[in-house]
Amino acid sequence: MYVLAIETSCDETAAAVLGLPGAGGHAPEAVPQLLAHEVYTQADLHEIYGGVVPELASRDHVRRLAPMVRRVLGDAGLTGPELGGVVYTAGPGLVGALLVGASVARSLAFGWEVPALGVHHLEGHLLAARLEEAAPAFPYLALLVSGGHTMLVHVAGVGCYTVLGESLDDAAGEAFDKTAKLLGLPYPGGAALARLAESGRPGVHHFPRPLLDRPGCDFSFSGLKTAAVLAIRALGEADGQARADLARGFEDAVVETLVTKTVRALEACGAPRVVVAGGVGANRRLRSRLAEACAARGVATHYPRPLYCTDNAAMIALAGWYRREAGERDGLEISARARWPVDTLRTPAPSSGPAHPPAATPGHC
Ligand code: KG4
Ligand code: ZN
Repeated sequence: MYVLAIETSCDETAAAVLGLPGAGGHAPEAVPQLLAHEVYTQADLHEIYGGVVPELASRDHVRRLAPMVRRVLGDAGLTGPELGGVVYTAGPGLVGALLVGASVARSLAFGWEVPALGVHHLEGHLLAARLEEAAPAFPYLALLVSGGHTMLVHVAGVGCYTVLGESLDDAAGEAFDKTAKLLGLPYPGGAALARLAESGRPGVHHFPRPLLDRPGCDFSFSGLKTAAVLAIRALGEADGQARADLARGFEDAVVETLVTKTVRALEACGAPRVVVAGGVGANRRLRSRLAEACAARGVATHYPRPLYCTDNAAMIALAGWYRREAGERDGLEISARARWPVDTLRTPAPSSGPAHPPAATPGHC
């Protein structure tokens, strides 16, 4: 079965085709292949505003999506009616942006007479590492760190997610972006701040490590952001080295917080491996500090390549493929949800109605 996947939850327009030849009945561990994949980032469009402008994002998805779908199908050498389904990000995300992908996906599926299925964006991130050849086996602890989310999730299998901790306010990527903006770096500033921090000296600026003194695995980054605002104001017209030192202090505070909470979550759930997902997962210092902390406990770490860490359609294709293989499909509805808790998902199950039962339904995990 092959699926076409569409992702438009925020400011990336993406489409992918993934599958295994044949019509089901594969070994449970069979890994589908990515046949075509394209991502277009709107970062330049939003840069002058210092953040994503939802209406501009939706309009740009409208402009780019249909030609991109045509290209990926052409690259995969497939036509619409040959697909086993069209899967699309149904949430969470910007509702106008989601509606573009959802309407295009549902309409194409209707026209081609193939099933459509709405997929949870975070399920895509949680499973993305399984696109790699050295795919992590279940169970694992996922540290999901993006511009919109900071979460620790125990992943027991497809659809078996237990949230162990999450941010009570800003996401880690958001804190990186806002601090980068105050330092005059271009949007989205996480990677630029990390580059500046490379020449910074550790210990010159000490930022708070939020919630480390309290039990549990939740995060809070808004206080850290306020501390960064005050420190940057105090810098005034300081030279490059002082700015680099500040960036280093900020990065160290975020990384130490993420690593300490991940270790705590590992101790709580006993998972044998950690998978890092989301755009902040590209951060080198986070990768090396986490790898050290995990190695000291005999825990393996998996980092999907940056292309699979940031928003993409390959991860949506994989999550949708697992569910289509199990026979899941939606009705004729176009599904777009701004909010959608990831732990309300269930293991894939055949259904002819809505793909995802309401939160109150007991799980299978
Ligand atoms: O997962 P993603 O592409 O989009 C969301 O779903 O949010 O993550 C984007 C976030 C941005 O906040 C960006 O600044 C951050 O990931 N980011 C980084 C790095 N590369 C990207 N943050 C810190 N260090 C990096 N190297
Ligand atoms: Zn994302």
